[in-house]
Amino acid sequence: MKKLIVAPSVLSADFLNLERDLAQMEAAGIQWLHYDVMDYHFVPNLTFGPEILKQIKTRFNFKIDAHLMVMTKRPLAEYLEPFIQAGVNQITLHVEAMSEQQLNEFMTLCHEKGVMTSLALNPGTDVAVLEKWLPKLSNVLVMSVEPGFGGQAFQEIAVDKIKTLNTLRLKQNLNLQIEIDGGINDKTIHKLDHTGIDMVVAGSYLFGHADLAERIEVINHVE
Ligand code: DX5
Ligand code: ZN
Repeated sequence: MKKLIVAPSVLSADFLNLERDLAQMEAAGIQWLHYDVMDYHFVPNLTFGPEILKQIKTRFNFKIDAHLMVMTKRPLAEYLEPFIQAGVNQITLHVEAMSEQQLNEFMTLCHEKGVMTSLALNPGTDVAVLEKWLPKLSNVLVMSVEPGFGGQAFQEIAVDKIKTLNTLRLKQNLNLQIEIDGGINDKTIHKLDHTGIDMVVAGSYLFGHADLAERIEVINHVE
């Protein structure tokens, strides 16, 4: 059995009781949090920015996986600086949302700052689109729902993409982590058996349930 990283998505927390919810995650042994930033432009929803991340980092020791579902015309370094200052550990940008130049800037910036560099693929985007970037990435996030909302149904198309990425990293001997995000629960988690998945994001399946520890265990049981 493989040991996964389980990253609860803050998007599904009770925001009026954020500290309580995150303390429960901490008590359950969670080490990474997934932090969904949305801009009402790349996706039809708007969430939170670097300030709340900074406060979380001040209060807790979690590592932060920031998933930025955003487009911007501002210089990328300027856009990402407050997240880096807040202590983010991994930044994920969407390959669909960025120009070639922005992606180059992103890689350079993350390498300079010692932040894990990650790109996300929407369900409709082929792995081939980011093949040339793979040697420079620490992580690829495969979306198993359309980005924008928690609580959606898992899309199977993600499974083959993870297998393709796993084959590519073996062939090219890449030090690459593979992450999945969207629709993970006790049923869908088993679709990831024998795929090579390393990191699993889960929002609605983990937050707001009394049996949190059991649920984390269920997700951890990928073959
Ligand atoms: C969707 C977000 C996901 C979402 C996952 O755009 O990127 O991280 O919070 O939530 P669940 O696990 O409920 O699908
Ligand atoms: Zn996400």
